[in-house]
Formats: sequence, C-alpha cells, structure tokens
Amino acid sequence: MGRNKSLFESRTSASAAGVQRREFLRSLLLSPALMPLPQSALLWRAAALLQAPATKDSARELVTANADFFVRNHFPAPQISSDTWHLEITGLVSKPINLSYSDLLLMNPARLHCTLECAGNLSGGKGVGNAVWSGASLATLLKQAGVKPQAAYVVLHGADSGSGEDLPPGTHFARAIPLEKALSDSTLLAYEMNGSPLPAEHGFPLRAVVAGWYGMDSVKWLSRIEVTEQPFQGYFQQRHYVATNRDGNIRPITRMLVSSKFLRPSQDEEIRERVYHVEGVAWAGEAKISKVEFRASPGEAWQNAVLDASPTPYVWTRWSCDWHVPGPGKYTLEVRATDSDGNTQPAMHDSARRDAYELNTPHRVPVVAR
Ligand code: MTE
Repeated sequence: MGRNKSLFESRTSASAAGVQRREFLRSLLLSPALMPLPQSALLWRAAALLQAPATKDSARELVTANADFFVRNHFPAPQISSDTWHLEITGLVSKPINLSYSDLLLMNPARLHCTLECAGNLSGGKGVGNAVWSGASLATLLKQAGVKPQAAYVVLHGADSGSGEDLPPGTHFARAIPLEKALSDSTLLAYEMNGSPLPAEHGFPLRAVVAGWYGMDSVKWLSRIEVTEQPFQGYFQQRHYVATNRDGNIRPITRMLVSSKFLRPSQDEEIRERVYHVEGVAWAGEAKISKVEFRASPGEAWQNAVLDASPTPYVWTRWSCDWHVPGPGKYTLEVRATDSDGNTQPAMHDSARRDAYELNTPHRVPVVAR
C-alpha cells in the first residue's frame, strides 16, 4: 500500500460515510469471501449461454443478479489472490503507477450502472445483463500517471492466457480502447458488482467496465494498463471482434447497437389469456432508447410499447404492452427498438458480413394461443 502517495492526497476531505465504507472494505480485505471460487467448465458455460434459446430468464429485474449474469471467457478463469495481486499503469505516462488491491479500495469510489452485452450475443440471447458496478475511476488514475501528449490508446491486459488453434503461445486476453473513452465517466475499474466483491468468473479482483461498448472491452482480471500511441496489434484486437465484409473490408467492433428482447412470454409458451401483458428490455449502448415496437405476426402493423421510465444511455429500459390475442393459433411475436440517433433494429442481418457479431435483428418468439 501507499506506493503512490499522491493518490491519497485528497482523502482528508472524505465524508464520514466514505470513511466508514472504506473501513468496511478494508475489513473485507481479510475476509474469506474475497477468495476466488473454484472454476470449472466456464468456457462450456459461456458457449451454452450464448447459444441458448431465449426461454424464461432472470432478467426480470432492472439489475441482473450476479449468479445469473452471463459469463464469457476465452480461457479458464485465473485464480488470483487479492494479497499478491497488483495493477501496473505503464507506457506513455510520466509517473508509472503500481497499485495494490487495498490502494484501490482506498480511492474515492466511483459507480456505473450499465448493460453489458457480448458482441456475439444472438438476438434475444442470454449474453446480456445489467449491473451496478463500483470501483475506481480509470480517468483519475490516468491523470495521476500523467498521460503524455502523443498517447492515443489504452491497452487493458487481463491475467488469463491459454492455448488454442493459431493462438501464439502465452497470449493473454487484452484489448485496447481509445484514450478518449478511457478518460470518460463511462469507463470504470470495477471491484464490486451489485454491491458484492467482484465474483471470480466476472474478473476478481479488478475488471474494466466500458459502458456502452460490447463486452469484449470490459477486460476482466486486469493486471496491466498500458498507454500507447500506436493501435494495439494484440490477437484479440486483430483476429477477434472485427466486423468483416465479404469484400474484405474490416472495422473494429466497438459501440453496442440498439437491441431488445422479450422477458415474457418465453419461447413456445402456451398463452391462455385474451389480453396478454408482453414485457421486455431494450438497450442502445451510448444512445438512449427512443421507441420499442411489438407485433404478433410478420407483416402485421407494429404497435408501440410503453417504456417503463425515461430511458438513459448505458442502461437497459424495460418496456411492456398489451397483446389482444386474436384467437387460438400459432404466432411469432417480434420486438424491435429504435435509438435516439434514429437507428432501428434491422429485419435481417447484413448479408455482406462474414462475421457473427452485432446480431441485432428483432427478437422473435414463437408461442401457441389456446
Ligand atoms: N476479459 C478477460 N480477461 N478474458 C476474457 O475472456 N471476455 C470478454 C470480456 N472480458 C474476457 C474478458 C468478453 S468477450 C465479454 S462478453 C465480457 O468479458 C463478459 O463479461 P462477463 O463474463 O463478466 O459477463
């Protein structure tokens, strides 16, 4: 602790509540609750979740419980002890930083409520969740480190590594974000998820949360943050998470596209009501949801759903509407959302694309009315 004295200079003005909280967090440092859980078959679990059809799930609440939050790992989750872990901030900075876990807990806490979606999530899939994250501001740390004028990118290095087809040996998971995004309030270094220490599979002891951007940039098990001038050439930057057109054009995947899903009914549900209350969530990354529409059969006119609260960027919005069931039969319910920039979920995935990211066609759920 205390390796970067300047980080602690503003603490004398902290409120009593803040001090108590930090005392509480300090006591947690010794708690067995902070030990990472044993990990097994996480890769399988991730794949299964991303491919699972949208049946009943736990996304009924605005916040997704930690135990129900999807997990997407490229490698087995590393076991990291908060006692020995530390975070380096290096590269184009005038004062490189080396922080322990307790250093982080003693910083002024920052909070971010946001929806995280995997870039490979299927329409209506389970690779999306919504949580309240707490931690330290990356911008504050970068300012402490003194970012040099030529800096343009911030590379977030994870501690996890592994082997695989055409994977250079010793490759760690790492992703870069532009300096501008790293310095914004929408990027956080999180050590808590929904008020609990970050669970092991979600990146204990520290992860990035890059709100409004697809999940791959929210790097877990952070070990090093590197400020660079040149675009990052890492495997997961160049070979994955790239939109690839059949004509060879490529661009990086960054901001989340507008999307939505049903929470009820679930797939193949038997509907017995004459008026069924359809519910779901919609999200739009850095934009806001401006409209959600529903219809019960292809070709039918879309009907506007009611939005629960005034939509904000980063956080999903709940929506609902009454479906007046015309009579017994099979129906395919559809939902689509429009964001505040005027983008509507497309009816079909772009046929020019070779990759399987940004899959935001309307969520379609077959049901049977009795
Ligand atoms: N960070 C590390 N270190 N390793 C990973 O495999 N997966 C990324 C991101 N951060 C990943 C990572 C991807 S692809 C997604 S979608 C999110 O983590 C998922 O976060 P979650 O597992 O907490 O839901």
